[in-house]
Amino acid sequence: MARVLTGIQSSGIPHLGNILGAIQPAIALAEQSNNQALLFIADYHSLTSVRDAEALKHNTYATAATWLAFGLDTDKHIFYRQSDIPAVCELAWFLNCFTPIPMLENAHSFKDKSAKFNKDKISAGLFTYPVLMAADILLYDAEIVPVGKDQEQHLEITRNIARSFNHNYGDTFVIPESKIQEKVMVVPGTDGQKMSKSYGNFIDIFLPDKKLRKVIMGIQTDSTPLDDPKNPDTCNVFKLYQLLGSEAQIAELRQNYTAGNYGYGAAKQALYELIIDKYATQRKAYHRFMVNTSLIDVELKKGAEKAHKISTEVLARIKTKLGFQ
Ligand code: TRP
Repeated sequence: MARVLTGIQSSGIPHLGNILGAIQPAIALAEQSNNQALLFIADYHSLTSVRDAEALKHNTYATAATWLAFGLDTDKHIFYRQSDIPAVCELAWFLNCFTPIPMLENAHSFKDKSAKFNKDKISAGLFTYPVLMAADILLYDAEIVPVGKDQEQHLEITRNIARSFNHNYGDTFVIPESKIQEKVMVVPGTDGQKMSKSYGNFIDIFLPDKKLRKVIMGIQTDSTPLDDPKNPDTCNVFKLYQLLGSEAQIAELRQNYTAGNYGYGAAKQALYELIIDKYATQRKAYHRFMVNTSLIDVELKKGAEKAHKISTEVLARIKTKLGFQ
């Protein structure tokens, strides 16, 4: 059985785009397979962008609560918080010593992120982000790593570091394969651009009813008069509805658009009600976790214990090779 592992970003609160594009497909994949997967919340990585203790903690809980609310089976899989296994930092140090600087300088993600900052604001943490990621993977002998296309290069870096180590010390690390999610669902944000935390156009489905309604009511639409027929296929409200509704619901809304005398306000109300209805169970579960975060702690502790067992063995093997024990 191949060992599957992936890291979950926790630098923001998961929004509808993350849920439809990443979380639900990952949970479906984990459920379908016979493999036990390791899934962890990459909170050490978040420190490269989140500089506020409350926000860091809250994001981690919100991320965990979302995965749990959407039904991740924590008995079957190993669901843990990266920082609960600090040995990953020890391994990252070892790996740093096998990482050529130019390889990190060439990382697209580093180049993109650092282009946005003044040079003195670019931290060594941002620079060595891929090394910590390599440690995440190599610490568990992971064989398959499902990631988005943007992470492909980081996986290549992981393989290079592992090969360089193996070359020096003999076979030590398993060389992992990436599994790239090719078809990513495009979820439009409230302004019609791709939904993203950084564009501020996201929909947080866990907001209280009134606030959620306000966000939905704020979705940008054109100025076609109320009486006129409307084109559903160019409308952000309809596009979102299409991703969430049943076939019959979508057909009905399309009919309303093309018939005319149906305003965008009504369409937004329909979308709002659909979200409330579709995600009723998950919204309830999410809030149950968030008002009592000790429930999340219990889940993460269970995962950390399982992860700890694997990591201890692997780290001992590496330290022996290096001459530290
Ligand atoms: N960097 C990944 C992302 O932005 C998250 C991540 C951290 C990860 N460590 C990992 C993914 C290890 C796969 C394996 O999505």
